[in-house]
Amino acid sequence: MSTSAIDAIRSQLLDRVQSSGTPREVLKAPELRDLYSQIGSLPAEERGAFGKAVNELKIALETAIQAREDEQANADVETIDVTAPWGVRGSHPELLPTQQGTQHPLTTELEVVIDIFTRMGFAAIESRQIDDDFHMFGALNFPDDHPARDGYDTFRTEEGFIPPAHTSTMQHRILKDGREKLENGESIAAISYGRVFRNEDVDATHEHTFYQVEGVFVSDSATLGDMLGTLRRFFEAYYQQELRIKTQPAYFPFVEPGLEFAIEKPAALGGKPGEWLEMLGCGMIHPNVLREAGIDPTKYRGFAWGGGVERLVMLKYGIEDLRHFESAKLPFLRKFA
Ligand code: DAH
Repeated sequence: MSTSAIDAIRSQLLDRVQSSGTPREVLKAPELRDLYSQIGSLPAEERGAFGKAVNELKIALETAIQAREDEQANADVETIDVTAPWGVRGSHPELLPTQQGTQHPLTTELEVVIDIFTRMGFAAIESRQIDDDFHMFGALNFPDDHPARDGYDTFRTEEGFIPPAHTSTMQHRILKDGREKLENGESIAAISYGRVFRNEDVDATHEHTFYQVEGVFVSDSATLGDMLGTLRRFFEAYYQQELRIKTQPAYFPFVEPGLEFAIEKPAALGGKPGEWLEMLGCGMIHPNVLREAGIDPTKYRGFAWGGGVERLVMLKYGIEDLRHFESAKLPFLRKFA
């Protein structure tokens, strides 16, 4: 075989290096092996030149392979899409996830809650995950050193900030922002939803991290009856059936009177008559809380409520243990997909 035949093979193999996803494989090409095996059978005077040409071909291939591999590595770096599922570039389709993630049931249910209240005319704002002593306590009529503060097992950062133990931390902001509305003859109607934190021992009904929804309504004529009607409407919409409701007095510094609001566990959800479930705290907003936000309590009155989201969802789906929600147990989460 002549060196011009080697040239033909060279251009073929170099093309193959350029088009291959695995260029190093080209070194195992049968054409190359044939060339090597021919060296020994050539007449001595041709052998040197031929051997040299084959060697040069091999070096040229290796150089091209290296360049191509570098190019591939760079291409990978440049096109990484950090939001894409692993292996999306297709080199290992067997590694692609076979199942997509799903929305967490608490998020889905929170969206249902928000939807019901926004259809009732309430604005919806997310609560903060880090707050201060004033919004957690001071603005809500907890005097400094008042024992009622002990009812909330708060965490504190070294700087004195508080991961809020309830969504009531948003009340002062809602009231202050809504002051002008009242002056224009409108009412304040807002819910605030989000994650809250307590220094709790965790068990089937207590979590250190959970979700609450808070509601605030203020007008020149709001009554306790309006509050009970609003809450009943919400629960009946959420559970899609008529419900019996009950209240009993409770103490929260930011409302007067303060109440606990219970519903009778519906038969359709496994309840027996007379089985009451306490769902939230509520009451008429304390005059000090209105005053603190610059609202004259002799002209305006309002009601507020706040309660846990998990509790709602547990009743709806018969979930027996609160810890499932944060457990990352896929069989549990997939039931809600
Ligand atoms: N923030 C209270 C808690 O987490 C619940 C609550 C009670 C909220 C009465 C209110 C209210 O708005 O009026 O225990």
